[in-house]
Amino acid sequence: MTRLLVTGASGLLGVNLALLAAQKGYDVIGWTNRERLVNAPFETASVDLTDFDEIGPHLEAAKPDLIIHCAALTNVDQAETNGRLSYLLNAEAPGYLASAAARNGAKLIHISTDAVFDGSKGDYSEEDMPHPLNTYAHSKLKGEEAIASANPDAIIARVVFYGWSIRGNRSLAEFFYNHLSAEQTVNGFTDMFFTPLYVNHLAGILLEMAEKNLSGLYHVFGSTPISKYAFGVALAREFGLDESLVSPISALEAGLATRRPLNLSMRTDKLSAALGHEIPTGTEGLRALADALREGLREKLASLAA
Ligand SMILES: NC(=O)c1ccc[n+]([C@@H]2O[C@H](COP(=O)([O-])OP(=O)(O)OC[C@H]3O[C@@H](n4cnc5c(N)ncnc54)[C@H](OP(=O)(O)O)[C@@H]3O)[C@@H](O)[C@H]2O)c1
Repeated sequence: MTRLLVTGASGLLGVNLALLAAQKGYDVIGWTNRERLVNAPFETASVDLTDFDEIGPHLEAAKPDLIIHCAALTNVDQAETNGRLSYLLNAEAPGYLASAAARNGAKLIHISTDAVFDGSKGDYSEEDMPHPLNTYAHSKLKGEEAIASANPDAIIARVVFYGWSIRGNRSLAEFFYNHLSAEQTVNGFTDMFFTPLYVNHLAGILLEMAEKNLSGLYHVFGSTPISKYAFGVALAREFGLDESLVSPISALEAGLATRRPLNLSMRTDKLSAALGHEIPTGTEGLRALADALREGLREKLASLAA
């Protein structure tokens, strides 16, 4: 049985990944920071990854075969105002974790972001040169560099995703669902494109990448780029909500506090070739999101935390 350590196990990706892996028979340990997952169906521990001296001893105690590093400071505005924390957690901690993983013979998957690009051209492959626009993106790029230098065998997976989270407010899908189901209007950016995966599809692919023992940089995105406006409309249709509540607006005119890339359409040819199959489509992702709601995943996630 594979012993899997998930960092950021209280976050949107971490918790869904840990649950899926536990269901698939992995022996899961989830590390959190402030959140206590008192009802998790997997082992948990609290580890502050900015306390670098603690990373090695905690890893030795956990004895994982595989680590999927999901913990990060992910709030782009918060990263801008707290650059120090952003660099400690997103840029430096990954290097310590990667060295400790190599010392302990554990395979590592490091989670990075589409935001390493400036969004000026779109259709980005692994060969394209990153050009981060803000502190979050720059700190995540530095994290990639720290991983590649400390542990060349690691997988660096650039991702973007949506799904249901513990507090119900972490993803763009939740943002649209929460407002639309309360019959409130929301803005959707017509000029901001992304290539998202449903979080459980992403989690399954990450486990598959580890099983195939891949290494190096991979774009792990959906198969269909979509504007944030069109995503809101598609979500409304999938859930039978009123799509006219999604107002089309330009991100350039929205006065966002932090500069963000516009065109983050992504290529996934390298990943499909390595996996030997296609990546789920946008329609399949939204269908799976709706199925998960009907199956009670939202309530299940909410019940995990104290
Ligand atoms: N969401 C997206 O669409 C998206 C897009 C691109 C890339 N990513 C990347 O995907 C990964 C997962 O993102 P997410 O959205 O799932 O994150 P999230 O929901 O914001 O969760 C962040 C996780 O990091 C943990 N954490 C925060 N500070 C910590 C610290 N000092 N020590 C240890 N753990 C700490 C949090 O723990 P507590 O809650 O317990 O404090 C939480 O579990 C990140 O690497 C992110 O950069 C996400």
